[in-house]
Amino acid sequence: MTDCCRVLVLISGNGSNLQAIIDGCDDNVSAEVVGVISNKPDAYGLIRAHQSEIDTSCIIARKDETRVQYDQRLKQAIEKYQPDLIVLAGFMRILSDEFVSQYLGKMINIHPSLLPKYTGLNTHQRAIEAKDAEHGASVHFVIPQLDAGPVILQAKVPVYEEDDIDTLASRVHEQEHAIYPLVVKWFSLQRLKMVNNIAYLDDKAIGVHGYAPD
Ligand code: GAR
Repeated sequence: MTDCCRVLVLISGNGSNLQAIIDGCDDNVSAEVVGVISNKPDAYGLIRAHQSEIDTSCIIARKDETRVQYDQRLKQAIEKYQPDLIVLAGFMRILSDEFVSQYLGKMINIHPSLLPKYTGLNTHQRAIEAKDAEHGASVHFVIPQLDAGPVILQAKVPVYEEDDIDTLASRVHEQEHAIYPLVVKWFSLQRLKMVNNIAYLDDKAIGVHGYAPD
């Protein structure tokens, strides 16, 4: 990695996490968002990128192509940006094992649950239905198994009896916007790595629930 970490963000929608990362990079000279790729042409995150004069690409899935074929086109688009770090920020596509395997240790994701709880979709609804007292978000390294890579950092929020999906989602979102830029900063400062499916911060193994200060 050169002095400045080249960050590429993949999105599918609103891009509020993208915005938090752009804003975080404005205050962090060690990282720069060099591009944004969306699989949806109408993703609002593309407008956010344009407003910050960040280059964008749109890779839309074709009806007749396989997942592996899509991922090959995605890889070509990614390589143009020569990223040091690939950040999945609400990128709502499952990626093939082949694709993920070539970016081990340099691709991270944010997931709206306290992993390993609630991998997959509808996490807020599932937390409410289970009457959980706590919910939250996790940033983790991406490995081929869905939402199963080592957790780097989690943020917890309370779940109130009167919560619906929207109120809970917005509480979780607020925390996402705090933790994701911080993890990008750690990576850009070369404090973070993954070795043999274990995440390390400053050469100390991170526990299953993410970094927790002593
Ligand atoms: C975020 O809440 C993120 O955790 C979730 O999508 C949302 C994107 O919001 N990601 C997933 O569900 C991935 N499995 P944003 O577009 O406003 O950043």
